[in-house]
Amino acid sequence: MASGSKPEGSMLWGGRFTGGLDPLMVKYNESIYFDRVLYKQDILGSIAFARANAKAGIISQDEFQEIERGLREVEKEWEAGKFVIVPGVDEDIHTANERRLGEIIGKQVAGKLHTGRSRNEQVVCDMRMWLRDELRQIEGHLVAFLRVVAARAEQEIDLVMPGYTHLQRAQPIRWSHWLLSYGLAFAADLERLREVISRVNRNPLGCGALAGNPFGLDRDMITKELGFDGLLWNSMGGVADRDFVTETLQWGSMLMQHVSRWAEDLIIYSTAEFGFVRLADAYSTGSSLMPQKKNPDSLELLRGKSGRAFGHMAGFMMTQKGLPSTYNKDLQESVEPMLDHVKTVSDSIQIANGVLATLTTNADKMRAALDPFMLATDVADYLVRKGVPFRETHHISGRCVAKSEETGIPMNELSYEQMKAIDPRFEEDIAEAFNYDTSVERRSAKGGTSKSSVMEQIKVLKEMLG
Ligand SMILES: *[C@@H]1O[C@H](CO)[C@@H](O)[C@H](O)[C@H]1NC(C)=O
Repeated sequence: MASGSKPEGSMLWGGRFTGGLDPLMVKYNESIYFDRVLYKQDILGSIAFARANAKAGIISQDEFQEIERGLREVEKEWEAGKFVIVPGVDEDIHTANERRLGEIIGKQVAGKLHTGRSRNEQVVCDMRMWLRDELRQIEGHLVAFLRVVAARAEQEIDLVMPGYTHLQRAQPIRWSHWLLSYGLAFAADLERLREVISRVNRNPLGCGALAGNPFGLDRDMITKELGFDGLLWNSMGGVADRDFVTETLQWGSMLMQHVSRWAEDLIIYSTAEFGFVRLADAYSTGSSLMPQKKNPDSLELLRGKSGRAFGHMAGFMMTQKGLPSTYNKDLQESVEPMLDHVKTVSDSIQIANGVLATLTTNADKMRAALDPFMLATDVADYLVRKGVPFRETHHISGRCVAKSEETGIPMNELSYEQMKAIDPRFEEDIAEAFNYDTSVERRSAKGGTSKSSVMEQIKVLKEMLG
């Protein structure tokens, strides 16, 4: 960029390069090394676009057939790993494919491919098709994971363990109830995902650079050929819009937040202190120093990767904030977060599935962690059933807890006389309140932890899988 009057290499203010190009700028600008994953979508989009141009009479049928034949050749080269990227020339996947097409069918005809088309609509078409296909695969992984949740919840419905609030022992629950507490959150993620896919899958081709297509392009024909669910109806919006990426990143961030909490629970449950679950060797690692250790690496990675997923979302939302209308090069910054996010989320769901499908549960450890104090609410509920107001029963039950702490006698072993001394309305059937299985079975209203309620949740979950 030395000015014309000066000899090369003597820029007035100094500079890090001479001649017309800064080699770092060329690299800084190019996207081929990540957007080449879109090669197939780019080719399919180009074929559909050329077909519509042939229909509009802008290119001949023969020219269209040459273009299609050439593009199929280019596709084969990519698929065979034989496509050679020309550094500094193939700045992105679109120029790379078109350059190669020209070499195969000749520049004369290849030069007609881009008639009436802008890179602005082309890039976003490729991204939408790619993302739609990936999200459909992720949908399949999520359904597979939820089938494991449902199957385990069904098979292990008799396991009773402590339920926690504030990570303190609260009330007895079924292990299946815990499984479904996350299962139904993931099922809501699945519902949201299906909605996201329907908005991702809209056709931007025919938007032009921003103002639309001047050759009467049949956009509906392209929509159909490329498997889109519908059109983007405003050409300026069509090239500006990266909401479909943002929405995917937001969706994935919430899913990863669920994954992270789920993983944290299992990390806690897998410690020696809890021992409720044991991870399969495939998903844990020994320590390099301490031979007795088995670290839940898979779960820690799941927990850790959620931070990365949120980062994609926050970063890209910042990129878009304050951009003027339509296309700006800043939007190239949507591609890498999208690619990494999709991989992170997809891998994470599959790993979570593997962890859950292979971990073993320890019913004895779960039961041993139950503590009579967790039945204090049941003692209060007992008196409620005798007609005592709950505010009062809560207080009476608290006195039973205090008595137990003071005497060192577990609450369920306090004598009938001791209980009666606390409140004369206790009768001999109070012994029945001190039963974990009964406690769990009493929570039989919809959504509770009784067997029938949990079975109903499993049914609801399965119906959501479709
Ligand atoms: C940057 O890349 C675009 C294609 O995305 C290209 O049109 C442009 O010439 C490149 N600019 C520089 C400075 O390399």
